[in-house]
This record gives sequence, C-alpha cells and structure tokens, in this order.
Amino acid sequence: MRNLNAENITDAVIEQFAGCSDERLKSILNSLVTHLHGFLREVEPTEQEWTQAIDFLTRTGQMCDDKRQEFILLSDTLGVTMLVDALNHQTSDPMVSESTVLGPFYVADPPEAAQGESIDWNVEGEPFFVEGRVHDGRGEPLANVVIDVWQSDSEGFYDVQKELESASLRARFTTDDLGRYAFWTVTPSPYPIPTDGPVGKMLEITGRHPYRPAHVHFMLMAEGYETLVTQVFAEDDPYLDSDAVFGVKDSLVREYELLPPGRAPDGRSMEVPFRHLTYDFGLKASR
Ligand code: BEZ
Ligand code: FE
Repeated sequence: MRNLNAENITDAVIEQFAGCSDERLKSILNSLVTHLHGFLREVEPTEQEWTQAIDFLTRTGQMCDDKRQEFILLSDTLGVTMLVDALNHQTSDPMVSESTVLGPFYVADPPEAAQGESIDWNVEGEPFFVEGRVHDGRGEPLANVVIDVWQSDSEGFYDVQKELESASLRARFTTDDLGRYAFWTVTPSPYPIPTDGPVGKMLEITGRHPYRPAHVHFMLMAEGYETLVTQVFAEDDPYLDSDAVFGVKDSLVREYELLPPGRAPDGRSMEVPFRHLTYDFGLKASR
C-alpha cells in the first residue's frame, strides 16, 4: 500500500479495518471513511481551511465539561440530533406521540410533585396550567407513568443556567388511575441556545439566529413502553419555523390558551389572566 492518491486512498483505509472482528463497528467505520473522503473530494479544502476545521472541533471539545456539552449543541444545530431521532423513532401511528430533542437542560431524578402542584417555586411569571392524559397508544389510560417536566422561565433561562441552590421549573409527576397529570407553572418564552462557544460563533458567521420557540419538555417512562422524550410548543411562537435545533413537529404544537381571571380548570380561583395547555400523550409498547 504505497503511492496512494485521491482516488485509491479510500480503499486503502477501508482495507486496514478488514480485520476488525466487530462487524457493526467495521461497517460503521467503512461508511464513515467513504463519506468523509467523498466530502473532502467534493469540497477540496485548502490546508488552511482544514486547520481551521480542526481548530473548531478542538475548541468545541475544550468547551465541554460535566455541565456543558458543546458537541451535543453542534449535533443539534447541524440537524444531526433530529436525524438520529427520526431514524430511531419513526412512527406512522397517529395515536403514538412524536419525540423530539432532549436538550442539555434535563436533570435526572427531579423533585417529585403531587398532581396539580405548582413547579414555579418562587419564579415570577404568567401563571400556566398544564394538564392531560397518558394512554397506551390505543386510547386506554395508563396509570403510574412517571413524567419528568422541565422548562425555561419567562425570560428564557433554565434553573441550571442560573445556578440556583434548588430545582426550579422542573419536577416529576406520576399519572393517576385515569392516566391524568396536571401542574401549575409559568408560561415559558422563546430563548437562545447557549451562544458563548464555537457553536454560537458558527451561528453568527453563517447568519443564523440561536432561538428556540417556547416549549415545555416532557420525558415519560412506563414499564413495557418506550421512553418518550418530547416537547410541546406554543402555537403562536415566531420561531416555530426556524427552530435553531430543528425540533418542531406539527403534532407537538398547541395553543397555550390565554384565559381571563376566574375559575381555572382545576377549580382554583385566579385573580389574574393565565394560560392553559391540554396535551395527551400516547406511548408505544416496547418490543
Ligand atoms: C432545549 O430545548 O432545552 C435545547 C435543545 C437543544 C439545544 C439547546 C437547548
Ligand atoms: Fe428547552
């Protein structure tokens, strides 16, 4: 294997992986090398451009720690996260809820909250009542489904970004016998994804905005069903068609209905206007 050129170097690299005993790994690497070399033959980068690319990836790695994952942000903003999601959670069943990007602000094992409780511990904002049911994908209610919810505040920040001492605007609920969940919170707003790293620079120099439309995150976990990671977006949001991470699906968009002061759906007496969202989830049985 000598005197390799732009045409035969791809086969030479693939040949060196021939002894890999893990067939799946071998086929992934063969495909990676084929596409990566094909990409380079197509764009013909200068050596300076290639050095810039390596520098970008180096800075992306250097930005990562246990709280910040710039590579996931890069995957999100290049549409890779949503492509992987689409390849793994393809559903043509309208009764099964669609998934979307997890995002970097999920915290495992959030504080448990009771049905109807408020998760807006001391956060200012417009009151927002969220409720719905969880079913088995055929309409039968599912009890004891664990639902983790998390969201930004009305200024677009998650508790972990504000480095609060305790959790805020996140909680764990469990569905009741009729598959119901309900909680009070504050209305979330659109917000920019973190822009202080190389991904932010990439968005800036390519003329892209960093915003995500307002949403509430949900993770639903139940024995015998696939875990559903999803979000419900506000219908009137200006960023629905230009989400920086490509996560919006029509089935996940709902009206955050603005209601006048008075009796809320759970019987609470409201002295100020508030919003109301109803969203039912259908889970997919695991194989
Ligand atoms: C989020 O929705 O929390 C999120 C998703 C992807 C990147 C940044 C934030
Ligand atoms: Fe989010």
